[in-house]
Amino acid sequence: MDYQAVLEEVAAYARPFVGQGQVADYIPALERVSKDRFGIAVADINGAVHGVGDWEVPFSVQSISKAFSLALVMAGSHGDDDIWKRVGREPSGTPFNSLVQLEWENGIPRNPFINAGALVVTDRLQTLTGDASTTMLHFLREESGNEDLAFDQGVADSEAEHGDRNAALAHFMASFGNLENPVPSVIEHYFWQCSIEMSCRDLATAGGFLARHGLRADGSRLLEAREAKRINAVMLTCGTYDAAGEFAYRVGLPAKSGVGGGIVAVVPGRCTLCVWSPGLDARGNSVAGAAALDHFTTLTGWSVF
Ligand code: DON
Repeated sequence: MDYQAVLEEVAAYARPFVGQGQVADYIPALERVSKDRFGIAVADINGAVHGVGDWEVPFSVQSISKAFSLALVMAGSHGDDDIWKRVGREPSGTPFNSLVQLEWENGIPRNPFINAGALVVTDRLQTLTGDASTTMLHFLREESGNEDLAFDQGVADSEAEHGDRNAALAHFMASFGNLENPVPSVIEHYFWQCSIEMSCRDLATAGGFLARHGLRADGSRLLEAREAKRINAVMLTCGTYDAAGEFAYRVGLPAKSGVGGGIVAVVPGRCTLCVWSPGLDARGNSVAGAAALDHFTTLTGWSVF
């Protein structure tokens, strides 16, 4: 596969979509990013990376961090599946920050990729490691090979200032006994994780273990193959929120999006992609990013279907 040629063609296809949609404005620090950015990178399972456009420009990973926190909890749980007693694995059909379902379902979030579910996963990672956000930052530095990765304090502070919805979700779950740590500590680590700045190159490389059936960049095992399979399955069914059905229809790959405009997608056994363009559709997914991944699987035939 001539990845570079494929990425050039994908970028040309996506160009008319760049600038469409809205930049996330509920986190003021994200609102300042230009909608005209577009980058895409692919890392094959041997670590070779290709990219076009703004593929080396760092952006806020936001909810893409949820895939990494789930992986770290599964890796730290040594085959013990207890996290699945506290969070489900069905699509929610509701927006990523919705509260209503939680009351009907007794404080058990539908899946680990809506905010409520990610807060439970962060809570578990906090119990397992004592410092959930630093654990994730170190892991991402090691897997991407980029020692300069850092939190963006401005984004984390901005999110904390406008974080009433996430605080409400966390308190609500605590009232059902579904948090192990104090609410302020859980939401703080969650905001720090979301604030990490990474480029398409960094994210495509760091997500390589999902394409390598659980093997890390250095060849050591992070996850059993069946655990990597499960994370990919939940990404396919829940990784793009209430648009996961539409995304499977168009792209057909496990994927995780974030309101910073990034989407990580996995072709198991072959490669991990990351695309970034900050204009979002009404469900919080990058418009040009989804178009690019749609065209990528059309060109390569590498949808999982
Ligand atoms: O919790 C929030 O609202 C953000 N830190 C992350 C949300 C997000 O990226 C959802 N994505 N589409």
